[in-house]
Amino acid sequence: MTMRWLRSTLVAAAAWSMAAAQDAEFTETPSEYAIGTLARAPGCSLADFCRLARNDLSGQTEIYYPDSPEFEEATTRWSNVGAPIANITVVPAVESDVTKLVRIANNCNIPFLAYNGRHGALTTLGQMTWGIAIDLRSLSGVTISSDGKTATVLGGTNSKVLIDALWSAGKQAVTGTCECVSYMGPGLGGGHGWLQGHHGLIADQWVSAKIVTADGQLRTINSNSDLWWAVKGAGHNFGIVTSVTIKIFPIVKTNWAITTLMYTGDKVQALYQAANDHLLKNGTQPFYIIQEGVTAVDTTYTAPFIALGPISVSNNTGTYKDVSSWVGISLDGPPCQKTGAANPRFPLYLEQYNPSAMATLYNAFKDGTNSSSPFATSLFMFEGYSMQGVKAINAASTAYAFRENNLLTAPLVQYTPGSAALDAQAKAFGNQLRNILHAGSGRSQKHTYVNYAYGDETKQETYGHESWRSSKLLQLKDKYDPQRVFNFYAPAA
Ligand SMILES: Cc1cc2nc3c(=O)[nH]c(=O)nc-3n(C[C@H](O)[C@H](O)[C@H](O)COP(=O)(O)OP(=O)(O)OC[C@H]3O[C@@H](n4cnc5c(N)ncnc54)[C@H](O)[C@@H]3O)c2cc1C
Ligand SMILES: *[C@@H]1O[C@H](CO)[C@@H](O)[C@H](O)[C@H]1NC(C)=O
Ligand SMILES: *[C@@H]1O[C@H](CO)[C@@H](O)[C@H](O)[C@H]1NC(C)=O
Ligand SMILES: *[C@@H]1O[C@H](CO)[C@@H](O)[C@H](O)[C@H]1NC(C)=O
Ligand SMILES: *[C@@H]1O[C@H](CO)[C@@H](O)[C@H](O)[C@H]1NC(C)=O
Repeated sequence: MTMRWLRSTLVAAAAWSMAAAQDAEFTETPSEYAIGTLARAPGCSLADFCRLARNDLSGQTEIYYPDSPEFEEATTRWSNVGAPIANITVVPAVESDVTKLVRIANNCNIPFLAYNGRHGALTTLGQMTWGIAIDLRSLSGVTISSDGKTATVLGGTNSKVLIDALWSAGKQAVTGTCECVSYMGPGLGGGHGWLQGHHGLIADQWVSAKIVTADGQLRTINSNSDLWWAVKGAGHNFGIVTSVTIKIFPIVKTNWAITTLMYTGDKVQALYQAANDHLLKNGTQPFYIIQEGVTAVDTTYTAPFIALGPISVSNNTGTYKDVSSWVGISLDGPPCQKTGAANPRFPLYLEQYNPSAMATLYNAFKDGTNSSSPFATSLFMFEGYSMQGVKAINAASTAYAFRENNLLTAPLVQYTPGSAALDAQAKAFGNQLRNILHAGSGRSQKHTYVNYAYGDETKQETYGHESWRSSKLLQLKDKYDPQRVFNFYAPAA
């Protein structure tokens, strides 16, 4: 069995042209932009947009054009299939400039998209065939409240910045596991992380948020707003979040430990049976191969896996801040590098492993990623985060719809972008692998994670199969985004 296949099993984890006259419309009066009545202009050129922006935006806000190093750096993405195209990058220096940018772009009828960690890989992003990248990098920062119970995180803060700021104050919060991804990107889709077993998903931690909606208003929302439900799982669809106030917790246990095991392919079936029997327990056991609060993983947990006869076993010990590097997703890790590769994933949530389907899957993966295949460097992720904190939260309270699942699986079909035919081949291969797992699940419907989605999933597969969820999303989209300007990342309705 290859390492790329296996690495992921370890994430069985702890508790991841317009006339000048238009200028007059850019006032601060929100009533002109009342919901549902936003009249979209016939359009204006990018040059007009830039002139309007320069007049209106603060002096610190930067605007970059193609062929400049800054533009190239700001638009380079982690995955290069179905990627968005931007003609101008604007880096707002202050929250009020995000508001102005949304108003100007809407009045100009120019598409725009928030750019954050640029790890978003959904092929629906490719429906942005031109427009404005609103790069949130300057809106980075963390402020801990005086009572130490919450922190306010600016919309462009990356996970590592948040983790380090909290750690130095003796605090932690549920964040994504990968250091280079933004804090908001994962959270807007629910958000998985090492500490979710204690406290729930990333979005479950939110106390209030400031969001610029499609009408160009900056709204402060909390559980009293109808938008609150929507931002926690379908958030990419409803605006640009400029900051969010989140629950934080004292660090109780600083020690973490990991055991890494490697097996040959003949052990697949037995391995995943053991994972069902000893690790998953339907998400109810506080049970780790990465374990919190110890300097070595308890042998009770590792013994069934060592008994299977791995070809190697290695252990590591350290703090919470080391866990990302153990699984290869720290800032200097391969997944944090933007190499030009296409990295589509084909996610499927599952309740448990079907060992015989895993054996079929292993063979299909092995054949499809052999050394003569364009997909030879692909990997397969099997993530078994702790679920208690996630299941403790009322499923109806968030747009995130899939709390009953215990496992997040996804092939990551990696290749050097070439022809449309190669893209189609990768899509077929990814779906072939996903369908093996789906067939083995015995379920009629697929459950997928929006933040890993390929982009060919149905709205129900992404946002839940209950009809009330679809109706609610439609009603909220009609209310807050009638023109569907926030529709590039997994459109919800
Ligand atoms: C190496 C790697 C590790 C990952 N680890 C995890 C993990 O541990 N847990 C997990 O849940 N997911 C994880 N993911 C998936 C991750 O949630 C998505 O890739 C997510 O889109 C990344 O956000 P980003 O800001 O980096 O990307 P971007 O491409 O910059 O953003 C993605 C989309 O989010 C929206 N967006 C971003 N910021 C804002 C904002 N402030 N306001 C409104 N909309 C915004 C925009 O629509 C944008 O297109 C991982 C992905 C990778 C590649
Ligand atoms: C936007 O950029 C794309 C890609 O560089 C280019 O093909 C397109 O013509 C540009 N659109 C405008 C309006 O300049
Ligand atoms: C797992 O738990 C859910 C309820 O949380 C239950 O409906 C399901 O049958 C359980 N599955 C197994 C395999 O025990
Ligand atoms: C790794 O840790 C496990 C569990 O603590 C232990 O059983 C095993 O002997 C250790 N292996 C090595 C190579 O240190
Ligand atoms: C290797 O992969 C290629 C492309 O996926 C496939 O056509 C070929 O049959 C594979 N070869 C073997 C020996 O599996």
